[in-house]
Amino acid sequence: MTTRILTGITTTGTPHLGNYAGAIRPAIVASRDPQADSFYFLADYHALIKCDDPARIQRSRLEIAATWLACGLDADKATFYRQSDIPEIPELTWLLTCVSAKGLLNRAHAYKASVDKNVEAGEDPDAGVTMGLYSYPVLMAADILMFNAHKVPVGRDQIQHVEMARDIGQRFNHLFGNGKELFTLPEVVIEEDVATLPGLDGRKMSKSYDNTIPLFGSAKQLKDAVARIVTDSRAPGEPKDPDNSHLFTLYQAFSTHEQQAAFRAELLGGLAWGEAKQRLFELLDNELGEARERYHALITRPADLEDILLAGAAKARRIATPFLGELREAVGLRSFREQVQVATEGKKKAAKAARFVSFREDDGFRFRLLDAAGEQLLLSIAFADGKAAGQVTKRLQSEALDLHAELNAFSVRLDGKAVAYSPEFSTDAERDAAMQRLREALAPQE
Ligand code: TRP
Repeated sequence: MTTRILTGITTTGTPHLGNYAGAIRPAIVASRDPQADSFYFLADYHALIKCDDPARIQRSRLEIAATWLACGLDADKATFYRQSDIPEIPELTWLLTCVSAKGLLNRAHAYKASVDKNVEAGEDPDAGVTMGLYSYPVLMAADILMFNAHKVPVGRDQIQHVEMARDIGQRFNHLFGNGKELFTLPEVVIEEDVATLPGLDGRKMSKSYDNTIPLFGSAKQLKDAVARIVTDSRAPGEPKDPDNSHLFTLYQAFSTHEQQAAFRAELLGGLAWGEAKQRLFELLDNELGEARERYHALITRPADLEDILLAGAAKARRIATPFLGELREAVGLRSFREQVQVATEGKKKAAKAARFVSFREDDGFRFRLLDAAGEQLLLSIAFADGKAAGQVTKRLQSEALDLHAELNAFSVRLDGKAVAYSPEFSTDAERDAAMQRLREALAPQE
């Protein structure tokens, strides 16, 4: 059995070395596992929540698409697409919105952080909070549930969102599944051993700290960034402490054990920081050089990238379109055509339907059989009690009918004894037609 792995990349920035080591590289490695069925997508609807600069959105989508392909993602094996090319996602978002508790979304960390900030500043709690930000977890749940992902690798800040996707999926299953698991409940995957890279200043590498090393800048840009890595002031010749140097941590993320041991020995031996930076630059340039060339080739052919992503979207929609159809069915958004059929079938049944009416008379208990229009088909003989009459009506509905023409009427027999009589007819033809109607009325219904 293959495992479906799904993750999204929000398209608001340009990938840096930290994104590469922490997300892109491990995801591409995971996608090569023959047991893996990977779905990687550009979360460009999510990007709109955080960014209202169309040029930046567009540039980021292009750069991120080119980055993943340049880094070796095989778009034929994995399913690689833009969220905004899958119209089923916003549609599913609405279906999920309708079952998502507002209280659940009130507890989302990102929303709560905004509210707390507003309250602290003495503002309206919801100042500047859009419905996009508020509903962010529902859109993300749709991303995940749409493809019934088993595993969702994300950063720690996204754990709560995956848990919410589980909650929402479970609620939907409960309401509309009819005992069936419509949605697979996803599991979050946090890769403990992937590197969280330090940035130039030693804090976590992040766009928001402005301490990043660009992934696919020119070699010169890479060199300049490495030169800006903050080190201590130990002079050349003085021993350096590798375990308290984020330059060494960066080096570790891209080197073999032997390389690390050698570099450690050099630092302890007094290697100058300038030299150490040159070593790191060479290491990175070596790791990224080829991919950088592929990246620049791709980015100059945006039409090709468009084709690749549209093919990915078509592949994804081969799953999303029929599945959304099932979900629409499940919630009651169904074609009227089927509705009409059900109604006429119902009518046929009604035409067949006949009912027994029992009543008490001076001489005992009798029943009549009336057709759907209320016309009498049979009148029974008198029975000693209601129970005996009831048993006869039951047998008439379950056993083969034994009908006997009697002059201008007919009788129904059980065990050779007449138990009910038809009304009188003026002609034999009318009587025979009534016998036929009776057979139909009492025929077992599917
Ligand atoms: N919210 C995620 C992030 O900012 C991106 C994302 C969107 C995502 N949809 C997803 C991740 C679905 C995993 C699964 O990192």
